[in-house]
Amino acid sequence: MGDITLTFSGGRTGLTQEALEQRLQAAAPLLAEVLAGEAQHRDNLGWFSVDEAAGPERVDFLLEQAARVRDDADAFVVIGIGGSNQAARAVVKALRPENGPAILWAGNTISACETARLLKELDGYQSVYIDCIAKNFETLEPGISFRVLRRYLEQRYGQAEAAKRIFATGTPGSTLHQLCIDNGYTFLTFPERIGGRYSVGSDVGLFPMAVAGVDVKALVQGMRDMRDELRAAPAGENLALRYACLRKWMLEQGLSLEMLAFFEPRLDYFAKWWIQLFAESEGKDGTGLYPVVSSNSEDLHSIGQFIQQGSPILFETFVTVRARDASVVLPATDKKDYFDYLTGRDFWDINDTARRATMRAHSEGGIPCLELSIPAIDAHTLGELFYFFLFSCYLSCRLVGVNPFNQPGVESYKGYMFKNLGKPGAK
Ligand code: PA5
Repeated sequence: MGDITLTFSGGRTGLTQEALEQRLQAAAPLLAEVLAGEAQHRDNLGWFSVDEAAGPERVDFLLEQAARVRDDADAFVVIGIGGSNQAARAVVKALRPENGPAILWAGNTISACETARLLKELDGYQSVYIDCIAKNFETLEPGISFRVLRRYLEQRYGQAEAAKRIFATGTPGSTLHQLCIDNGYTFLTFPERIGGRYSVGSDVGLFPMAVAGVDVKALVQGMRDMRDELRAAPAGENLALRYACLRKWMLEQGLSLEMLAFFEPRLDYFAKWWIQLFAESEGKDGTGLYPVVSSNSEDLHSIGQFIQQGSPILFETFVTVRARDASVVLPATDKKDYFDYLTGRDFWDINDTARRATMRAHSEGGIPCLELSIPAIDAHTLGELFYFFLFSCYLSCRLVGVNPFNQPGVESYKGYMFKNLGKPGAK
């Protein structure tokens, strides 16, 4: 196994290493089928090889386009929702690259207040660029936000100059593509064979990251390295199959929630990406684990009580970061605040102690705990993590018996909404 590891304690489910081994062996044929490339999911596997959508030439092209924006922009607005913005936002928020334009997020809300606030905020920047990301350009949030932001740019810079500042990422042949052709906007590709939540390693995720200054080559290499590891590892040692089998076991024991827990708030938006991936992929046909998050230590002071002693409905997956990548030492003081027992101790160690204590208390309380240990929060590791979770999610859905790539359940509210808004053809 590589530098990401997954260990577990079975808690009240009583899962043993032997029982897990048996499950892994029983799932070996499924792993082989998935690795061979399943014909039934051919239209949704454009992400699987990594290189189909993020080969070296494509990444170089995206870096060139991003350099043009970085040379001139001091604000870049990413318009998109769900799979169209989550991965880029996860990375930008986790790595906080410096020396690039401010990255702002739009098209992920229809709140009038948020939209007005964004427009006001943009007035404070000299040079604004935008990228509207939408697979088929039918989703309401990015659709109407794009119109508002196009108009904003046209009023501010004039038609011709605005066009140079507008990027759009969509499916070739879509109405968004036509809009680009008609108006001279730069068009990037949302690959046909990749659904939103699987799109991190394509123009969708990589272009905004590149504009922000993320080392996208390292991120894509991380995806490739994890791909190679998961292709090479037999069932008994396969990290993704292990995670998928553990999740299935928990579901079978009557648990209904998986809680992703971590002690680095930099991962908050990564966790939102993870929630979407598993909720939309697995939550269907009356089954699936409901993905929730505990961003610690803050959330221990709100939901910690429930986790420890509330209804026994969840298991936890702790993401542990091994790198000691920052240091703040508690100084001495002559004021009596009664924290002298920590004088000279590093926040990093105190945080790590809190993590260990939490895992111990929760395990001893009977909560099944998985630990996904990662070397660092950097572009390469995030690439590995993305691919690991994508592959695991695919396997997990196949084990549970649901289609990993559709989301029929999100259509019913849209039907009512579109009808009430008077969309032509809405029933
Ligand atoms: O994963 C998915 O397919 C969805 O979450 C979509 O990404 C989301 O609904 C946005 O769709 P679109 O890019 O078509 O606007």
